[in-house]
Amino acid sequence: MNTTLHLTAVEHRVDSASRQRRFGHDGAVIWLTGLSASGKSTLAMRLEEQLLSQGYACYVLDGDNIRHGLNANLGFSPEDRTENIRRVGEVAALFADAGMVCIVALISPYIADRAQARAAAARNRLPFHEVYVATDLATCETRDPKGLYRKARAGELRGFTGIDAPYEAPEAAELQIDTQLENVDASLSKLRGYVTRHCPLL
Ligand code: ADX
Repeated sequence: MNTTLHLTAVEHRVDSASRQRRFGHDGAVIWLTGLSASGKSTLAMRLEEQLLSQGYACYVLDGDNIRHGLNANLGFSPEDRTENIRRVGEVAALFADAGMVCIVALISPYIADRAQARAAAARNRLPFHEVYVATDLATCETRDPKGLYRKARAGELRGFTGIDAPYEAPEAAELQIDTQLENVDASLSKLRGYVTRHCPLL
């Protein structure tokens, strides 16, 4: 742990006001949580595209992508998921500290892990917005774009979220999106409206 190391924090010579002037908005973390196939990645990537074209500096950290690089050494045990969320939470806070709107799309099934990600942002007084993509299991299972629910039901894939691994729904997310009740455009417009209201351009 850091406490046993001899570390001294180094001050940046650039403050958040300078970054805000440069990018035209404050940094923030937009954290999308929900079951596999709930629509997190689709919404995150479209949101990134739209915000960028509006002039935002933004970037998506997506679970499947991050697990090919930074988190390539992690699996899906509860401990590995906790470490996955811890690392992405820290990286997202760095992106936000750099002045960007960082959009995260991770199942992030445990309430405690998401609270830790929120705390990583709060440590630097950075806004963190939890968005619950609340698509129900039956809908996700019907969509099954990667065939993983089918494999999990057949017992070929163990510890799959929603089947034989838990998903702890947020109790107080800042925003909830019910993709089974509306189409992608409607969900996206709700999400984008929320983000542009809470992270306004100067
Ligand atoms: S998390 O639980 O640690 O947050 P993350 O979002 O990074 O998960 O990765 C989820 C993606 O990994 C799923 O969309 C799916 O493609 C794939 N995956 C592979 N095995 C599992 C599993 N056992 N549970 C959930 N997702 C899995």
